[in-house]
Amino acid sequence: MAALRPLIAGNWKMFGRRSDLAEIEKLAADAREVAVDVLICPPYPLIGAALAVGAGAGVLIGAQDCSAVAADAARTGEVSAEMLADIGATHVIVGHSERRSQHGESDALVRRKAEAALSAGLIPIVCVGETLAQRDAGKTEEVIAAQVRASAPAEAGIVIAYEPVWAIGGDRTPSVEEIADVHGIVRETLSVAVRVLYGGSVGPKNAAEIFTSPAVDGALVGRASLKAADFALIVRAYPAVT
Ligand code: PGA
Repeated sequence: MAALRPLIAGNWKMFGRRSDLAEIEKLAADAREVAVDVLICPPYPLIGAALAVGAGAGVLIGAQDCSAVAADAARTGEVSAEMLADIGATHVIVGHSERRSQHGESDALVRRKAEAALSAGLIPIVCVGETLAQRDAGKTEEVIAAQVRASAPAEAGIVIAYEPVWAIGGDRTPSVEEIADVHGIVRETLSVAVRVLYGGSVGPKNAAEIFTSPAVDGALVGRASLKAADFALIVRAYPAVT
């Protein structure tokens, strides 16, 4: 089986206005010149317009969440994976730690969302990660294996993002060795071909170092994905495939 292409994904979270779509346009040269998939996940209201800009720039567009119900249904305020696929989105993030902690999303719900994404033809990016208390208690491997088992369908081609909760939105990251260890656990747990991304305070300054590990198939980037100048440096930091 051909190796899966690395993926550098930007999660805009609840940031962005129409004027920010120009940032996607500015990624055109970078997206074309690298051997990685470049993805931006804007908030729902911008996805349609982002798709139009992304198509011209060679940038894939995804969503930050989807309903666990794949097909049309009476679910006020929800957006289905089929709707996202219908407009041309390719990926959807599910189980981000902010959804898990701020919206009480369980592993079981995250798994249903990932399955809904797959049934609609989208690639789910399933997020997992330990808290600082769990890491300090030496439970990281156990927690990650349990989250992966319970929230990620064992389907080849899906994406897992390892995002330690304590590394998101701050300035600390695990060491490259610690990241590689956890990515190894993810692969052992699923035993199908998946891409494993690292996420949590990835920026232009530390991306190249994080990407030195062959266990890292790319990154899920929050803050540093909002400005093309920063995100392009991360995209270009991924080692060229020879
Ligand atoms: P950050 O966010 O890059 O701003 O730390 C990462 C994420 O939450 O996906």
